[in-house]
Amino acid sequence: MEEFIDVKGEDCGLRESIKRTLNGENVSADVDYRGHIFSIHYHPLKNERGEVTGAAVVTNDVTIQRQAERLAVSEQSAIKVAHMKSEFLSTMSHEIRTPLNGIIGMSELLAETKMDEDQAKYLTIIQNSGSHLLTLINDILDYSKIDSGKLVLEKRDFNIVALLESTASLFSQKFLSKDLKVSLIVDQNLTDLTITADEGRITQILINLVSNAIKFTPASGSISIRVVPLSKKEVYILREDKNSMKRRLAAQLKNEIVLSENAGAPRVIESDAGLLIEEAIASNEPVHVLFIVKDTGIGISKDTEERLFSPFFQALGTNRKFGGTGLGLSICKKLSELMKGDIGVVSKEGEGSLFWFELPLQINPVSVT
Ligand SMILES: Nc1ncnc2c1ncn2[C@@H]1O[C@H](COP(=O)(O)OP(=O)(O)OP(=O)(O)O)[C@@H](O)[C@H]1O
Ligand SMILES: [Mg+2]
Repeated sequence: MEEFIDVKGEDCGLRESIKRTLNGENVSADVDYRGHIFSIHYHPLKNERGEVTGAAVVTNDVTIQRQAERLAVSEQSAIKVAHMKSEFLSTMSHEIRTPLNGIIGMSELLAETKMDEDQAKYLTIIQNSGSHLLTLINDILDYSKIDSGKLVLEKRDFNIVALLESTASLFSQKFLSKDLKVSLIVDQNLTDLTITADEGRITQILINLVSNAIKFTPASGSISIRVVPLSKKEVYILREDKNSMKRRLAAQLKNEIVLSENAGAPRVIESDAGLLIEEAIASNEPVHVLFIVKDTGIGISKDTEERLFSPFFQALGTNRKFGGTGLGLSICKKLSELMKGDIGVVSKEGEGSLFWFELPLQINPVSVT
């Protein structure tokens, strides 16, 4: 008691607590003393006539417990603030999109009217800025929607080969103009399957990865998009032993030779994955499918690899040279996680990058094609 009084120059409420206890009250209080937190319980001791004759005091050092509780509270409020931020962004982006669509629509109509050369030049700048802003707003909207847990996945039946072909066809002009060799590779066991999942969101991840590959690969380089099923063991390695899987993928980054030189129909590769797909269908379990987008572009330094998937992160000099906002990969990560999958990268600076994502996909045993 004396010590408590000495240290703080006050009695940390002890006198008051004892007084209340001697008046017959049960008292509990935390006392902060020399960097430790003590939980003190005071119980009145009574004689057979019910008169208080003393007090029993029980003390516990609860420093660690209280620190954990405070941490949990500050974590909770940090999560709350982050969600409020997402919600604000989501509302704002939505509000901005409406007038922006008006500007873009009107500038399209204006482009069809008679203009002199200067006016046409200015209008092109308005249109380019408008569409850039729209992409940015859509990305922010997507990001905040996923972040605030508002994105609902849709389920639709689709075929992976068709998805791959239609995604690649979106970029055919860009592949040509940069003279990029492109190969689409699909495991033979996936070609005829009907998958039930959110086709649009899977396509969105692929589009982000492929447009990065195009953006960061100099002219005449090559890009390959590969889709293969994974065995349970491979999924385990991918999720639990990232380094070992990274070594495997790194070997692929080095060794794979690009065979086909246009995006046309995918090259079908043989494998013995048929059994694992049959087993998945029989037990109504999802098949884990690995998507790989590999390029021979500028690559990524080891120290930035981990941060690529954070929102607004761009490697040094990237924004100045290539534009963009640094949201693409963070959206891909959020989407992969939402679909209970995973995403990662293996890269070597100056040689190229291999981005992968893996998703557990439900197979529809009844073909709809
Ligand atoms: N294939 C790649 N090769 C080399 N660097 C890459 C590749 N893909 C991504 N990066 C690096 O990761 C950063 C983040 O990519 P992300 O797709 O999130 O953003 P961005 O492409 O810069 O902009 P946005 O996608 O929002 O238009 C890029 O700025 C770039 O530094
Ligand atoms: Mg991008």
